[in-house]
Amino acid sequence: MGRHGKKVATAMDLKFGEFTLDLARRELRRGGRNVRLQPRVLDLLVYLARNRERVVPKVELFDAVWKRAAVAESALTFAVKEARRSVGDDGGRQRVIETVRGRGYRFIAPVVEGLGRGANATQRGEDPFVGRDALLGILDQEFAKTVTTHGRAVLLTGEPGIGKTRTLTEFSDRARARGARVLMGRCMKGDGVPNYWPWVQVLRSALREHVIDRDADLTPECTATLARSLPNLREDLLVDEKPLEPTGLSEDQVRFRLFDQLVRLTQRVSIREPLVLLIDDLHWADAESLSLLEFFARSLQEASMLIVCAYRDSELDDDAERARMLGRLARVEGTRSVVLDALSVEDVAQYLEKTTGQVADAHVASLVHSRTGGNPFFLTQISDSADAPLSRGAREAVHDHLEGLPEDCRELLSLASVIGRDFEIAVLARVAKLPVDEVLDAIEPAVATRTVRQLRPLRFRFTHGVITEALGESLSASQRSKVQEHTRSRTS
Ligand SMILES: Nc1ncnc2c1ncn2[C@@H]1O[C@H](COP(=O)(O)OP(=O)(O)OP(=O)(O)O)[C@@H](O)[C@H]1O
Ligand SMILES: [Mg+2]
Repeated sequence: MGRHGKKVATAMDLKFGEFTLDLARRELRRGGRNVRLQPRVLDLLVYLARNRERVVPKVELFDAVWKRAAVAESALTFAVKEARRSVGDDGGRQRVIETVRGRGYRFIAPVVEGLGRGANATQRGEDPFVGRDALLGILDQEFAKTVTTHGRAVLLTGEPGIGKTRTLTEFSDRARARGARVLMGRCMKGDGVPNYWPWVQVLRSALREHVIDRDADLTPECTATLARSLPNLREDLLVDEKPLEPTGLSEDQVRFRLFDQLVRLTQRVSIREPLVLLIDDLHWADAESLSLLEFFARSLQEASMLIVCAYRDSELDDDAERARMLGRLARVEGTRSVVLDALSVEDVAQYLEKTTGQVADAHVASLVHSRTGGNPFFLTQISDSADAPLSRGAREAVHDHLEGLPEDCRELLSLASVIGRDFEIAVLARVAKLPVDEVLDAIEPAVATRTVRQLRPLRFRFTHGVITEALGESLSASQRSKVQEHTRSRTS
C-alpha cells in the first residue's frame, strides 16, 4: 500500500524471479546467495535491467559497458552469454535477456523494484507484516513435504480482511526463496467471468514466464486439449483462433481429458522445480474450477506441488453448492484446512511499533486491539491514532462489510450500535418496537457473517469496535438520543 514512506532512489533492488540485482552493492543474488560475476558482465546486466522498457542497441552497450574502449564484437557476445548463464538462461532459453535480431538486446523478465537491504520496513514504504508465525510455519512444513514426499493442498479461511491474501503473498516470497516456482490465480465475482478463470491465469503466467517449456512440456495433444477447453489461453498457446473440429466426445469426456492433461503437464513441469500454486478468493470460483481443483488435490501424489487456496467462509453460508464442493475438497487426503484468527494484542503492538517507529504503549495497543477486533484490515485503517475519530476509509470498509446484509438487519444493527458494543436483545426489541423473536430472526445474518457474536442466548457483541462506531455515526443525533432514552429507561 506504501502509505508510510517515500521511495529512496539510491539503495534500489531489482527483483526478477528468484534473483535480486542490488544496485547499491553491485551484487546479483539468487535466493539470498551471491552469484559471482565478472564486473563487465554485471555492468551489462545492470544496464539492460535499468533500461528494461526497450531494446538496447549493441553500440549503446559498447558505450555503456566498455566506455568506448576498442573491443571486439565477441566481447559483447561473450558478456551476454555469461550474463545469461548467471540467471539461468541460454541462447535457446531466453527468459531474462532476449535477443532482438538485428536490433540488440532487451531485458524481458518481469521486475519488481524494491529498496536495498539497508532500509527498514517503514522506509521501504512497505506495510509491515506481523504475527502469523505459526501459520507460515505450517505452510513451510507443507511445502517441505511436497519436495520430499508428494503434493499437498492447504485451504486458508477466515473473515474479510483477516489477512488471507497477504498471507498468500508473504508465503509466496518464502517459497521462492526456497527454490519454488510460484504461480498465482484469483477468482472473480460476476457473471461475465469465464469458466476456469483462476486456472487460465495460472497457465498464462506459467507460459509467459517459461515455467512451462513449450517444446519440452506441451505435447500436441496437450496443446489441443487446452486450447479447446480454455479459449482464453489460445493466444498464449500460439493456437489460431479458428474453431476447432468437433471431437465426438461428451462434455464429461472433454472435461476429463482436460483435467488429465493438466495433471500430466504439472508432473512434467514439477520434475524440474517444485511448484507452488496460490489460488485466492475461492469463494467466487466457478464450479468447473473447483472440480479441477479437487481432481488436482486427488492426483497430487504424483507431482511436487503445493496448492494453497484462500476463501471467505462467511460467503458460503447461502451458497450450498460451493460449500459442498469446498467441503469435499477439504476432505481429500493430504489436504489441510487452516482458519485465520484475529491478531493478538502483542501482534497489534508490534504493528503499531513498526508503523510509528516507537514502542507502543500497552494501553494504546489494547485499545486498538479492541477497536479493531484484531482484524488486520481494520488495523491498517485506524492505527494512525488509537482514539481518533474513524477515517473515511474505515467507515467505507465497514459499510462494504455490511453491504451483504438485509436492510432490516442493518437497521437493527444501527440501533444496537447506540446501545453499545454489547447489547441485550430485549433492549433492542424495545427500541425497535418489535417482538424479541422477530429481532432474533432479523439479526441472524449478522451472526452468520460474524458481524456480531452471541455471548449469551439474549446478549450479543459486535465483533469489531469499528463496526459499532461506524454504524453509530450513520444515525442522526435525534435517532441516537431516542435510542439512548430507551436504554436509560431500562436501567432506571
Ligand atoms: N499479519 C498482518 N500484518 C500486517 N498487516 C496485515 C496482516 N495481514 C493482513 N494485513 C493487511 O490487512 C489488509 C487486509 O488483508 P487481506 O487483504 O490479506 O485480507 P483478506 O483476508 O484477503 O480479505 P478479503 O476476504 O476481503 O479478501 C491488507 O492491507 C493487508 O496488507
Ligand atoms: Mg483477500
